[in-house]
Amino acid sequence: MKEECQVYKGLEGICVKESEICYIDGKNSRLYYRGYSITDLAEYSNFEEVAYMLFFGELPTRDELEGFKKELASKRRLPDGLKSLVKTFPKDARPMDALRTMISSMSMFERRGGDLVEKGIGLVAKAPVLLAELHRYRSGLESIEPREDLSQAGNFLYMMFGKVPSEFEERIMDKAFLLLADHEVCASTFASMVTASTLADIYASVTTAIGTLSGPLHGGANFQVFKMIMEIGSPDKAEGYIEGMLRSGKRIWGFGHRVYKNFDPRYRVFKRMAREMAELKGRMDLFETAERVEEVALKELAPKNIYPNVDFYSGLVYYLLGIPPDLSITMFSISRMAGWVAHVLEYLQQNRLIRPKAKYVGELDKKYVLMEER
Ligand code: CMC
Repeated sequence: MKEECQVYKGLEGICVKESEICYIDGKNSRLYYRGYSITDLAEYSNFEEVAYMLFFGELPTRDELEGFKKELASKRRLPDGLKSLVKTFPKDARPMDALRTMISSMSMFERRGGDLVEKGIGLVAKAPVLLAELHRYRSGLESIEPREDLSQAGNFLYMMFGKVPSEFEERIMDKAFLLLADHEVCASTFASMVTASTLADIYASVTTAIGTLSGPLHGGANFQVFKMIMEIGSPDKAEGYIEGMLRSGKRIWGFGHRVYKNFDPRYRVFKRMAREMAELKGRMDLFETAERVEEVALKELAPKNIYPNVDFYSGLVYYLLGIPPDLSITMFSISRMAGWVAHVLEYLQQNRLIRPKAKYVGELDKKYVLMEER
């Protein structure tokens, strides 16, 4: 006798844990980290402060923040073995494949056992360094050692381009890290918790997450949006292009969300940053094309409650910072590392193996047929 069970496609509406980390009010365009609105955090906070809060629950005092920054900075240096490993990668490897392999390999270079929180902080500290190392290797540039006197954002841009960024660019990078630091139980975070729930180690958990993030329905959308904007090329071509896509049943990248049925609040901040960066770099043509695409798509999709999401302008911001477009997804990963680790730590406090069921709809008790009789 088969047991009855209900299928929730895409696990829509299923809560997998109680959490104090993040809340999305998708109807009203609101996102909160630890109860603080993302709009306020983007305005007044910084990535280090947000990462501290995601890990430890409250905004840090001045001393706590200084201590946390020092700890992050002191954990940036990569093991020599990992740097040698990168040099064996094909230069044209897909960046997410390379980053996933680097993160996965970290477990072999770190001390076994030890404190989980400390390892988590190490992952947050090293993720941007790994990406900068990868970028320099595939661009044929010499490896650069991280600096301890710079912020996460400042050090990342310094290692990418070999010079300390302007305050303005550092702030843009910092906000971009902060805006993507967490997003409740999105697909990749859920995947990391599934792995952690088996008591596999934290490196395995975040490696699972990176694999999950890489798809175009999740983290990969920012790169797709960027390619779409480049292909369209100018604002006057947007209407025909988008209408053509929708007529042929295609999705518009950077639009729609499982939880937001209204504007994604992070999209607004990224849009502002994209405009500021475009003005600074003299690339208003790109911004205006993106904005026209947004207008046309919004007219078609808003009646179905499909609005622009965080990925619509983020790829453009990265590009204008000088980051190669195909690294957009990896940018998402290095920002989200803080959230992945925070959710794993929270889940493990009340761990239960995540093991759903499938509703079996096949036959049972079939008679085995010998090979010669099939
Ligand atoms: N363009 C056109 N139609 C869309 C889009 C879109 N971007 N997104 C959803 N729809 C339509 C879809 O075709 C379907 O229509 P119908 O009911 O007529 O078949 C309906 O909306 C529901 O779609 P769904 O795939 O069942 O909805 P979902 O809740 O699973 O979708 C999504 C979420 C993000 C996968 C989807 O909106 C999508 O594919 N968007 C484009 C990719 C994208 O931008 N992803 C980044 C998401 S934000 C970053 C992150 O958190 O990962």
